[in-house]
Formats: sequence, C-alpha cells, structure tokens
Amino acid sequence: MSPAEQIGVIYLLERLKPRVSIEIGTRYGGSLQVLAKLSEKVYSLDLDPDVPRRLAGKFANVEYITGSSRTTLPPLVEQLQKANEPVSFVLIDGDHSAEGVRCDIDSILQFRPVTPLFIIMHDSYNPECRKGITSANWAGNPYVHSVELDFISGCLNPARAWRGELWGGLGLAVLLPEKRSGRFEVTGRGNLTVQTLRPLHNARLLLKQAHGFLAHRWNKKSSRETSS
Ligand SMILES: C[S@@+](CC[C@H](N)C(=O)[O-])C[C@H]1O[C@@H](n2cnc3c(N)ncnc32)[C@H](O)[C@@H]1O
Repeated sequence: MSPAEQIGVIYLLERLKPRVSIEIGTRYGGSLQVLAKLSEKVYSLDLDPDVPRRLAGKFANVEYITGSSRTTLPPLVEQLQKANEPVSFVLIDGDHSAEGVRCDIDSILQFRPVTPLFIIMHDSYNPECRKGITSANWAGNPYVHSVELDFISGCLNPARAWRGELWGGLGLAVLLPEKRSGRFEVTGRGNLTVQTLRPLHNARLLLKQAHGFLAHRWNKKSSRETSS
C-alpha cells in the first residue's frame, strides 16, 4: 500500500478500535501487521496454504483461513452473524478480478451489522477491481449508507512490473446498524481521472502481453536450437 493508503487504514482502525476485523488477502502480512495491532481479533483469509506457516508466531490474535474466499468467506460471515460478533472493519485485497472482487463484496453484504462496519477495498483505481466494486449488490443491503470508490486515490503505477497501469486507491463503504433512508448511489470522485487514463492503462497491458508472447517464442526458439 502507498503511504497515503497506509495512513488512511491506520486512521480508520485507530478510530474504530475493532473488536473483530476481517482481511481478505494476507500474503506476507503487510496490512495484517496494522490490523492485528489495532483490532482485538482478526480473521485473515488467503488462497495460499503457506500463509499460516509463514506467519506462525507473529500475531497471537489472528485466525488464518486457507482457501478461496469464494468458498471460505460465506460460512465465516454466517458464523459471525449467528454469534452476533461486532465486525467493524473489513479489508478486501484478495482476488483482483472483477468477478472476484464482486463475490467478496457480495459475501460481506450478507451481514446485518450490529456496529458501524467500514469496508475498505484496495486497488479501487484498477479498472477490473473498480468494475467488481461497482457491480456488487450494494443497494440490496439496506444497512449500506455510503460507498465512495476513491476514499484515497490510486495512480498510474511507477513500479517496473506494473509501470503505467492503474493500481492502488482505497474504496470505502460504510454500513450502520440502522436502515438508510433516501437516495443511495455509489460515488467515485476519481471517475473522470480513471476514464481519462484508462486508454493508457489498456495500452500498457497490451504491450506487456505482446512482450510476454515474444519472450515465450524467443525462449522456445533458443531451447530448440540448443537441443539440436
Ligand atoms: C495483493 S495480495 C494481499 C496483500 C496484503 N493485503 C498486504 O497489503 O500486504 C493478494 C493476496 O490475495 C490472495 N488471493 C488471491 N485470490 C484469492 C482468493 N480467491 N481467495 C483468497 N485469497 C486470494 C493471494 O494469494 C495474495 O496473497
């Protein structure tokens, strides 16, 4: 996460002091360091079966759940809801495909919150993730009060592996124990920026694909030449 994103997450966690938090996407425990420090209990989900061994002994208040969140998240939500657990913070940073993001959000939206619940969605500037966020069924949950795609803006990534692609940014949704009244819409203060920069993002993806294809052909050709 960028420094601004880290500060945003720390600020929210310090204000909320969650009894229970959920993280989708543990990886090396970067964001988990902060979640574990500022929450009483964290459920951290990842596909990667090495995560619990990799982070063993690091965070006493974290329960690791291994498997795709498409299958592990719905029963966790059901279990926490039945136990009336006060979940107040969720970080969505797992499967970054549009369908993956949508599924994670729709699973979380099965909650009827017993306390204010803040959902942070990482990489909301990325067109795939953004599509997943906007296609989730926010309106179907009457406890959703606001969804802003650009709580913190992303950027055209300067890192070598993703140079020129739209990544980063934090979306923020707020659910409250009481039902909303009046009009509801998903807002995105960065919509114009993302739309304007999207052709550049797509061009970079195409270039990356072409480079991958040519490198593959080149490697095949050189291994054929070496073996003959
Ligand atoms: C961007 S990393 C998470 C980074 C971490 N939140 C941090 O800030 O340090 C994404 C992680 O999501 C995991 N992941 C991808 N698809 C997933 C899925 N369907 N269910 C659960 N985890 C998934 C990957 O294995 C990877 O570890």
